[in-house]
Amino acid sequence: MATDFKHASIVEGVRFTAQVGVPNVVQGLFRKREAVVTVVGKLPAEHLAYRLVEGLARKYGPDPFWVRVGTEETLLLTHPEDIQTVLGGSPSPFASDPEAKRKGMAAFQPNALTISRGDLWAKRRVFADAVLKPGSRAHPLARQFAALAVETADDLVAADQPLRFDALNAAFQRLTRRVVFGEAAAEDEGLSAQLADLMAAGNKMPGKPAAGYQQFHDNIAAYVNNPDPTALSGMIAGAPSDDETDVPGQLIHWLFAMGDTLPANLFRTLALLATHPDALQRVRDDVGTKKLTTVKTVTDSRYLAGCILEAMRLWPTTALFGRVQAEEFRWKNGQRTPAGTPLLIHNLYNHRNRSRIAYADHFAPEEWSEGTAGDDWSFNFFSHGPQGCPGGGLSIFLGQAFLGRLVTQSTPKLTSGPRLRPHQRLPYAFDIYPAEISLS
Ligand code: HEM
Repeated sequence: MATDFKHASIVEGVRFTAQVGVPNVVQGLFRKREAVVTVVGKLPAEHLAYRLVEGLARKYGPDPFWVRVGTEETLLLTHPEDIQTVLGGSPSPFASDPEAKRKGMAAFQPNALTISRGDLWAKRRVFADAVLKPGSRAHPLARQFAALAVETADDLVAADQPLRFDALNAAFQRLTRRVVFGEAAAEDEGLSAQLADLMAAGNKMPGKPAAGYQQFHDNIAAYVNNPDPTALSGMIAGAPSDDETDVPGQLIHWLFAMGDTLPANLFRTLALLATHPDALQRVRDDVGTKKLTTVKTVTDSRYLAGCILEAMRLWPTTALFGRVQAEEFRWKNGQRTPAGTPLLIHNLYNHRNRSRIAYADHFAPEEWSEGTAGDDWSFNFFSHGPQGCPGGGLSIFLGQAFLGRLVTQSTPKLTSGPRLRPHQRLPYAFDIYPAEISLS
């Protein structure tokens, strides 16, 4: 017989909406708002969110349970097996285009893969996989990309200034333009500025392309039509696509994920390395004097990859993400939930769940390089399953080449920002905006 999933109370729903839902919206779903993030970072907002979800999961879990978010009954998933059911079943029956995400993304990437369904999703996914090569040990253009990442690190060390996130982000936006389009786009800061404006418009969830979208799309199309064989654009002709794929429309996601999300994660990784001398030493020993322009040196730096993955586990840039049922679904307890049912995965809670993860609040790169963290469906900073991030491998590779070079050419010190100590529990939030890392 079917049993109904448990329901959190209306008061708990109000608290969940206020402490988990609203902070994610207030900070900017797509373009983080610097001032607001800093204010929220000073309040223990993430800590409150963690404690609230922890309390709810203890009371109503481990099965999925209903929480009212705003006025909508939403299924919250905290057990890795249920997460596997849902992410393993995306985009159907669990679509990745809940209304808020679709309306926000429509401003800057209305045809994005992540908000596509059915055959259209499959077609766009084949295109993305053919260019990004998610399953391969190293991307076919890895040698060129490693050289660009190393050059980016050298430029920042040569600048001889304490590193702030804005400088790292600008450097990565340039690196991203070179990786995606080649040298012709290296200095096209206007393109990245256009994207930033459109993403800011996305925070208002307009449900349609924002002013300037068509021009931005045309600018990307111009680069696609002049492909560079040393960049991702050079692989597009060999990837299956047609008009419905909307190739320029796919590349928009690549630009913000590599030029915004990736540097935020690498800045946090660098802060961890700056405050964990043993881990820093191990990375330096691994890389030694080997050249990071050699693909094998980069891919062999597995502990360094673990450092990046740990920063993403500890402070996921996607703190909360959602699915919506595209059709009815029968759960293992026999309960049926109808099409349209919203579901939520709270990465911050799942990544730090102290009842499941022994190293929850500590920096433990070896859990990835030598342990089993990579098999755990609790960790979804790159998501999992058919709609898992196809740029994850490339992101880690670029991060390894960049950070490997940076920490063998300089000694990072966290000179302002949150206190991170090896033997103390790490905070639930790491605000990148006020932080500063010296590179001596
Ligand atoms: C550290 C950097 C990155 C992080 C944290 C990240 C995270 C994610 C996450 C969480 C998703 C799933 C979203 C959802 O289902 O709601 C996703 C999907 C996706 N990511 Fe990434 N990503 C990163 C870098 C990249 C890069 C560099 C690219 C491209 C070059 C990329 C391309 C994509 C695409 C196309 C999807 C949609 C996949 C689909 O729906 O089938 N990502 N990413």
